[in-house]
Amino acid sequence: MPRQPSRSTSWSIASCPRSRSSPRPAARTTPKATSWPWASPSPSPTPSASSSTPPTSCDRLAPVPDIVATLRAAGCVFAEEEAELILAAADTPEQLAAMVGRRAAGEPLEQVVGWAEFCGLRIAVDPGVFVPRRRTEFLVEQAREVTPVGAVVVDLCCGTGALGRALSAAAPVGALHAADLDPAAVACARRNLAEAATVHQGDLFDALPAELRGRVDVLLANVPYVPTAEIALLPTEARDHEARLALDGGSDGLAVLRRVAAGAGDWLRPGGHLLFETSERQVARAVAVVTTAGLTATVAVDEDLDATVVLAAR
Ligand SMILES: C[S@@+](CC[C@H](N)C(=O)[O-])C[C@H]1O[C@@H](n2cnc3c(N)ncnc32)[C@H](O)[C@@H]1O
Repeated sequence: MPRQPSRSTSWSIASCPRSRSSPRPAARTTPKATSWPWASPSPSPTPSASSSTPPTSCDRLAPVPDIVATLRAAGCVFAEEEAELILAAADTPEQLAAMVGRRAAGEPLEQVVGWAEFCGLRIAVDPGVFVPRRRTEFLVEQAREVTPVGAVVVDLCCGTGALGRALSAAAPVGALHAADLDPAAVACARRNLAEAATVHQGDLFDALPAELRGRVDVLLANVPYVPTAEIALLPTEARDHEARLALDGGSDGLAVLRRVAAGAGDWLRPGGHLLFETSERQVARAVAVVTTAGLTATVAVDEDLDATVVLAAR
């Protein structure tokens, strides 16, 4: 079963619930060396592995016990589920060995297998790019409620582009623009959004075409919100494998939000909404940030997902 969010963990980003297909480790120990049946220099016991014939599903399952043992030794609580996902993602024995090695060394499962489930969609996740969290599905749910037919939607700080893609799948979006400062995120979002959106690279609103000014109905902005000093408290998966730019919200965690709130009024249509995620601990200050910027805030909470979302209307 997926790990449940812990109320006592100081940073929700570190303890987000995951889908069944994105099981998460709870702890990690030093990885142990192992030998892989498919990667072994010795002749394989299965004919398919020693010939050019593609392996059958039975052959593919042959290394499972070794993989599970390695993942478990590395601290992966959902070792069986992860082994199945890694097996499904690997095309060759060499890839399989490399993926298991990366996972055992602490890389997020989603970056290893190359995808995450988000709002029932399979979202491509490249190495180094922020892994979309299950809790953020609540932001999309809230956005759907305020998305008019033919809406102009912007997914600012888009990462993989998961939010924009999920909202487009669930609501009558007319035009979708996504933007991020990180070139790796932009490339990943272009793959996920393809023709469904125009993906721009640049610093917040600077990335957007000027003609969108005053025309945006829904501004999704899952900005980084971890206070700088608390990044060190995040699990190594996030700290070492997601870009610092994706996590660091400045000294109080609200620095990027302040800049987004200050610009939102210029880009939103009257009646349009800015939606962002925050933590329970930050929500009062986050609401003050958007009201100071002239927006009207409503807070929505999902206890099960441990998600807090602010809807700020122009
Ligand atoms: C918390 S991640 C969210 C990614 C994605 N929206 C999601 O929820 O999965 C924050 C994203 O903001 C981007 N970012 C940080 N500062 C930015 C800036 N000044 N301009 C544009 N993007 C920025 C990061 O590169 C990262 O992809």
